[in-house]
Amino acid sequence: MARHLITSALPYINGIKHLGNMVGSMLPADVYSRYLRQRGHDVLYICATDEHGTPAELAAKERGLPVDEFCAQAHDAQKAVYDGFALAFDYFGRSSSAENRDITQHFARRLNENGFIEERAIRQVYSPADGRFLPDRYVEGTCPHCGYDKARGDQCENCTRVLDPTDLIDPRSAISGSTDLEVRETKHLFLLQSKLQHEVEEWVARHEDDWPQLAASIARKWLNEGLHDRAITRDLDWGVPVPADTWPELAAEGKVFYVWFDAPIEYIGATKEWADQDPDHRDWKSWWYDVDTAVRYTEFMAKDNVPFHTVMFPATELGVREPWKKVDYVKAFNWLTYYGGKFSTSQKRGVFTDQALEILPADYWRYFLIANAPESDDSSFTWEHFTATVNKDLADTLGNFVNRVLSFSKKRFGEEVPAGGEPGEAEAGLGEEIARLLAEYEGHMEALQFRKAAASLRALWSAGNSYLEEKAPWLEIKTDQEAAALTLRTAMNLIHLYAVVSEPFIPASAKTMREAFALPDDTATWSTPDEARSLTKLAPGIPFTVPPVLFAKLTDDDLETYKERFGGEAA
Ligand code: MF3
Ligand code: ZN
Repeated sequence: MARHLITSALPYINGIKHLGNMVGSMLPADVYSRYLRQRGHDVLYICATDEHGTPAELAAKERGLPVDEFCAQAHDAQKAVYDGFALAFDYFGRSSSAENRDITQHFARRLNENGFIEERAIRQVYSPADGRFLPDRYVEGTCPHCGYDKARGDQCENCTRVLDPTDLIDPRSAISGSTDLEVRETKHLFLLQSKLQHEVEEWVARHEDDWPQLAASIARKWLNEGLHDRAITRDLDWGVPVPADTWPELAAEGKVFYVWFDAPIEYIGATKEWADQDPDHRDWKSWWYDVDTAVRYTEFMAKDNVPFHTVMFPATELGVREPWKKVDYVKAFNWLTYYGGKFSTSQKRGVFTDQALEILPADYWRYFLIANAPESDDSSFTWEHFTATVNKDLADTLGNFVNRVLSFSKKRFGEEVPAGGEPGEAEAGLGEEIARLLAEYEGHMEALQFRKAAASLRALWSAGNSYLEEKAPWLEIKTDQEAAALTLRTAMNLIHLYAVVSEPFIPASAKTMREAFALPDDTATWSTPDEARSLTKLAPGIPFTVPPVLFAKLTDDDLETYKERFGGEAA
């Protein structure tokens, strides 16, 4: 048994996430956490909403709410969707918590004492009409390179050139449209990442061989470009305040830390939030502080988040000069596309997580998304692929097997697991196949190869179908009752095994399968491949019920309805 700390990238507070966000962070982290818990490990799965920054302030304003109220509501709305997806966080926190404020301020003080923070004056665009400094991306204007008239102050979307807001021709505020802009001097704290370059390089070098290639190559690329000092404060109302004991002048001016500085610290902050709810039984530091090899820490994220997690946050942790736990394994994902184009929150393209749950229960999405996770490459969501996968894998291969076996057995032998004769050659062969596939499944899960794990799970379900077709109990029963009973008992053992091993992917359906048998919950423990081989865990005489159909088959009409509602064309 090991201790596993697991985090998924913190979803930004603004707006409900789409399926692409879900598959690239929270869902695989949940599948992995559930698997490890089932295998008896001590798991802590932590996530939170990432609440600070200008987008939250603007969204609150748009809705006419104070920003803290807006965030509280938006947090609850996201949490409700994640509950709907059956994400079993140990804690889902908020980066605006007092815990995160305290730890973030502590980190900043320590970095300062260690000579990694410097105060610098910079020139920034100020908009009197908006009454605020404008972050680069909130200054719009005409690109000096290509003439595109909606270029943002950080980058031109049309020619992809990186820009400075002062490069723009006819600049205006993206918030109010005001063209009355000034450049004002303002003081900020800079994190001297350049001083930490060498140390981060050494740290990455010690870990990158263990990381998947996607994460390692992105970390290398960033290090090769060199770590630059970066401003870690902003002139905003909403954020972790700069501590007055250390920077009285900046604190008096109302400076707050930049959202990307406090967000990863919230992994720790949320763990403290979790512990503060039950301090007698929960020890947050035992997961984070001075636990070098005692805890294994795995992070989940989409590839755009990799630089922050492999380079910038480790740099911060190293500069603090205290033994905070650093990541052991970085599981990064490519993009899920919608018909080959971008899922886009701002353009409302694709399927959002709340809409998905209006259409079908979570298990349909969980299985499809993980089976097609963008692991080695981008992958594309299409309604055609989704409905075909649901019908084939979930409705036919798994659901139909469960219902066929249990209904037929009930009809012929009543509502208890039948006894039947001694297992024969077919059962031995099936047992070998199951043991082999289960070992394969475990291997892929432990290697965090989710698509491959899904393929092994599907193969386990298929093995049951092949066995049933081969034995054909509906024919056996005509000549040999005992033989038919053996086949059905063996098939029911498979159902019970499926209930256990499918749980990380489809927890609700797994529960239904498990509860079909009148067994105490603690018999639903993991079977090792060796234990699974005999397929006799489920003894004769155990009462069962036939559950309702596990997965509805989706029709051509359903497909058309989905495509009409969401659009089913390439961008
Ligand atoms: N909110 C960020 C995003 O959506 C992710 C933050 S991850 C954290 O891209 F570690 F910084 F919290
Ligand atoms: Zn341009």
